[in-house]
Amino acid sequence: MQLPARLAIFVGPRSQGSNMRAIAEACANGSIPAVVARVVAPTGNAPALAAARSLGLPVIVIDPDTADFSERILELAEEDSWDLICLAGYLRLIPSEVLDRFPRRVLNIHPALLPRFGGKGMYGRRVHQAVLEAGEAESGCTVHRVDDRYDEGEIVLQLRCPVMPGDTAESLAERVARLEHEAFPAALRMVIESEH
Ligand code: GRF
Repeated sequence: MQLPARLAIFVGPRSQGSNMRAIAEACANGSIPAVVARVVAPTGNAPALAAARSLGLPVIVIDPDTADFSERILELAEEDSWDLICLAGYLRLIPSEVLDRFPRRVLNIHPALLPRFGGKGMYGRRVHQAVLEAGEAESGCTVHRVDDRYDEGEIVLQLRCPVMPGDTAESLAERVARLEHEAFPAALRMVIESEH
């Protein structure tokens, strides 16, 4: 891995880009030895795309439903010289050709304490609602390595917070989001430093 490590950040169609921003700020202030080489969005109207542009980050829109998605990603990875791919709100599985090119080098953030409250369709408000319905005393977030299944790869870092009496999915989401913005940069630092 090069230093500074070159990061690609994949956002989803509804991503607000808050994790992307936290990672970009951590790169800019030197708290992680990395630079954002590219933000990849699945559609031109993803809110995170506008946020990326306003931060001056290089962006591209690639529709994951096109037949040559993997090929385009792998070409771009070469062109930009990516070391790591960060999934920040990206909701799809990563094609095996891309995982093979980036073994253990694709990281995702999930807004709960995996292995619970994860899997296909578990994203956004639904995750926090499930945590509340299960009567959990705590929640948090998980940064994990990505494999060919949803939310199952090796855990890199978890941060925890309490579930408070009277919490709604929204209030819990806000508390967890603050942790996420610490966790993703911290996990990236760990992964990059472990290779140097
Ligand atoms: C975060 O809650 C993250 O855990 C999940 O998608 C959300 C993205 O939020 N994977 P943002 O776009 O980073 O604000």
